[in-house]
Amino acid sequence: MMGLSFQDKNILAPMVRVGTLPMRLLALDYGADIVYSEELVDIKMLQCKRVVNDILHTVDYVSPTGRVIFQTCERERHHVVFQMGTADAERALTVATLIQNDVAGIDINMGCPKEYSTKGGMGAALLLFPEKIEMILSTLVKGVSKPITCKIRILPSLTETISLVKLIEKTGVAAIAVHGRSKDERPQHPVHCDVIKAISQAVSIPVIANGGSQELIRQFQDIHAFRSATSTSSVMLARAAMWNPSVFRQEGLLPVETVIRDYIVYAVRYDNHYTNTKYCLCQMLRDQLESPLGKRLHAAQSTLEICEIFELSDFYESCRAAQKAKKADLQSVGLATTVKNDDEDLNAISLPIRFDKRKYMSQFTPKMLLLEWCRKMKLPQPVYHTVQRPVDRFFHSIVKVDERQYASTLWDKSKKLAEQSAAIVCLHTLGLTEVKMNESDSVQNRKRKLLCQIDEGIRLLNEEQNKKLHQHDPEHRQHHDPEHDAASF
Ligand SMILES: Cc1cc2nc3c(=O)[nH]c(=O)nc-3n(C[C@H](O)[C@H](O)[C@H](O)COP(=O)(O)O)c2cc1C
Repeated sequence: MMGLSFQDKNILAPMVRVGTLPMRLLALDYGADIVYSEELVDIKMLQCKRVVNDILHTVDYVSPTGRVIFQTCERERHHVVFQMGTADAERALTVATLIQNDVAGIDINMGCPKEYSTKGGMGAALLLFPEKIEMILSTLVKGVSKPITCKIRILPSLTETISLVKLIEKTGVAAIAVHGRSKDERPQHPVHCDVIKAISQAVSIPVIANGGSQELIRQFQDIHAFRSATSTSSVMLARAAMWNPSVFRQEGLLPVETVIRDYIVYAVRYDNHYTNTKYCLCQMLRDQLESPLGKRLHAAQSTLEICEIFELSDFYESCRAAQKAKKADLQSVGLATTVKNDDEDLNAISLPIRFDKRKYMSQFTPKMLLLEWCRKMKLPQPVYHTVQRPVDRFFHSIVKVDERQYASTLWDKSKKLAEQSAAIVCLHTLGLTEVKMNESDSVQNRKRKLLCQIDEGIRLLNEEQNKKLHQHDPEHRQHHDPEHDAASF
């Protein structure tokens, strides 16, 4: 475990949106030795809760809004390298400590030239600050039990590049991945194999060559040629693998149709979000996107619809049925409590709303309005569950009302504010926030308006419920997204 080796390895490169669990597992099946996750930013990871998903057999890092930010499983545990975006050694260490037992290694992205990364001082912006690189890497090497790597781009001159990699080597990292282009070069520019080679000769740790997809790598044999041209220990593939991950197959490429079906099987099994599945499949279908098949894929709005296009709907149905049965089994032996807790967070209805004190009077805060509504509806009082995240000590609250949960997607400076924000999400969902106040309204007048609004909300709700009973609609249907059945396990 300690010694994930980077010698003589074929590696799936980190790729935002592409490098999620289904792609990583597929690359491993086809012959990749190591698979990197997409880059995940430290601050986002710090907000996540680690959830063991007993239905999918995964470990999920789930954001306060219920999104699975990083998902992993036993099959890849000894092969997956988690790539982090960071500009801060302490934050990086906190995240690394959180995830180290679920992954085989941790990589720091020092190559992303995109503004969203560089403006936070992350990605390629780090290349200008060797002392920061040194601090981040040595903090991780000292503080984490798993191998640390970093992925860089080359600098404008060879001398600068060599002195940077020597500094990186001294921090004790297990390997350096080198994308053989400078920060300002685009993917269509030729990759500088000679610079990667010079780096490889200048350091004694493994160097992983990257950047050869466009011009050099079409199939498995080309990987060896790229390794020889760069005199490196290992090779990392991004686009060639994104277009057809069977590039890792020693026996040769598989037809894209076969690869797509293999991908979908993993996407269904691990409940990958359909938008992500669609994105990856579009990359594979790239020159057929205008074909009838491509157009159908483009129009698909759920995993089931994607499965139908590729004649996998029977598989979809049986997989979902098995997952539901597993959930029922777990509940019957009392394991439902853990599952239910995860369910609860994941099912919260979320809106990006923050409490603005100026819009409310101290007598009629959102929490008080919600309490009043519950009283009138003869419901139990709202229950608030609030957490604080370590990175900035901000708070996030979920309120439970009538068996449903509501939360803001935003974090607040205090517990009180976070609870008010959650209450607003609930009121808003119930249609109770649109009370227009005039500056000149007296306190009595405002109170009267608010109570009228609550009564009106209750009347509308009753009306809606009666209509549903009349139509025999299943209860709560409007909040139930079949696409996310398994995600909420
Ligand atoms: C869709 C996509 C997403 C990428 N996301 C990341 C990323 O998250 N982290 C990273 O270090 N590089 C990222 N890259 C860059 C690749 O890892 C790689 O360095 C680059 O594509 C050159 O390698 P290639 O010629 O094999 O494509 C991404 C590239 C692509 C095409």
